[in-house]
Amino acid sequence: MQLLSKPEYIEKTAADRDRRMAWWREARFGMFVHFGLYSVLGRHEWAMAEENWPVDEYEKIAPRFQPKPGAPREWAALAKAAGMKYMVLTTRHHEGFSLWDSKANPFNSVNYGPKRDIVREYVDACREYGLRIGFYSSLMDWHHPDGGAAAYDSAARKRFTDYIYALNEELLTQYGKIDILWYDVSRPMETFEGWNSLEMNQRLRALQPDIIINNRSKLDEDFGTPEEKITAEKDRDWESCMTYNGISWGYVDSAQVGPYSYTAPQILKMLARCTSGGGNLLLNIGPAPDGSVPSEAVEPLNAVGKWLEKNGDCAYGRVTRPKSWGIGSGLCALTLKGSKAYLWNSIWPADGELILGGFVSKVKSARILATGRELNFVQEKHRIFLRNLPPDCRDTLVGVTVIVLEFDGEPETIGFASRPQLNNGRIF
Ligand code: GLC
Repeated sequence: MQLLSKPEYIEKTAADRDRRMAWWREARFGMFVHFGLYSVLGRHEWAMAEENWPVDEYEKIAPRFQPKPGAPREWAALAKAAGMKYMVLTTRHHEGFSLWDSKANPFNSVNYGPKRDIVREYVDACREYGLRIGFYSSLMDWHHPDGGAAAYDSAARKRFTDYIYALNEELLTQYGKIDILWYDVSRPMETFEGWNSLEMNQRLRALQPDIIINNRSKLDEDFGTPEEKITAEKDRDWESCMTYNGISWGYVDSAQVGPYSYTAPQILKMLARCTSGGGNLLLNIGPAPDGSVPSEAVEPLNAVGKWLEKNGDCAYGRVTRPKSWGIGSGLCALTLKGSKAYLWNSIWPADGELILGGFVSKVKSARILATGRELNFVQEKHRIFLRNLPPDCRDTLVGVTVIVLEFDGEPETIGFASRPQLNNGRIF
């Protein structure tokens, strides 16, 4: 294989990025799944490192890892019901336990624990539910003997980077078409040269020409990955990954994390912020040791899905990324798509009047997205008055009512439209 230099590689991947990213830019909402031996411990996926487990002792957890057959179908069914369009599974987290039939890594779920290929079950479940398939793949590995020495010993580094490549090669050749390769934690090496990422990613792309790759192998690749925060990355695609509770990606029992877990309106708030900045939301669940979905996620995600069934237009699909504001600060939930502006409104005005400031373009119509009900409006200079809003227009599913304004072209704004000035109402 003819390897490209870094500038050549960047140019080549940029040239067909629009084609490869087309589905992802419309998908908006995905499910992250953190599942591994750490799920058995139930106290954060970093337990092995944080509690200084010796490798041979940690290996003894493996027999206790017994996910019930069909568990990945539960995750996929929930993702589908929530209106998510893709999933990303931790095929191997930092603990170094592979969830598939790996030749490169004998410490895997076919040799130990359930003696099953969980990645296969996951891939089949994604396909059954029509979800795009993502593989999370840790670069760091606490189990591999060279995982630490790779930092300073070049022979160890060669063995270790060959091992990492071999794992990813298996993942990208044994399961048919895979949509996303989601790298994580590039330690102990600190450069793309140290990881040999330029060569690794070129070889992997040759195996899966449509694949999209995140930015965590010390190369920018296709999209940025703000973690536990929703901030738009400048001039590039981005996806915020969020835990379900602000505490742990891996399973912690509901009695402990339940009170910290997101409600449906909070999830919609995150989705709104991602959407308005043209990004995606990758929301995590940490299944229980037997693979069942954490109970605190079920009701909120189902409610979000029901809401999206009626209001999906404001979230899915290509949005126009606003030029005049970022989403890093303040409250903002205005999605711009072509000649339409979607206002995600969380507090219905008591006096039935909303005043939206900052739009310069002429409004042609205003309606409730979920029902299509037309609303009366008056436009004066830069203000749009929506009056006599019928109280029964308010969304009863989650309490987030979307109003669609249609303009006579792409709406032009003068700054305040990012935080519409509402009378008694509030946009997130
Ligand atoms: C982090 C953590 C990890 C988690 C990941 C998700 O970098 O190391 O445990 O899997 O973020 O983005």
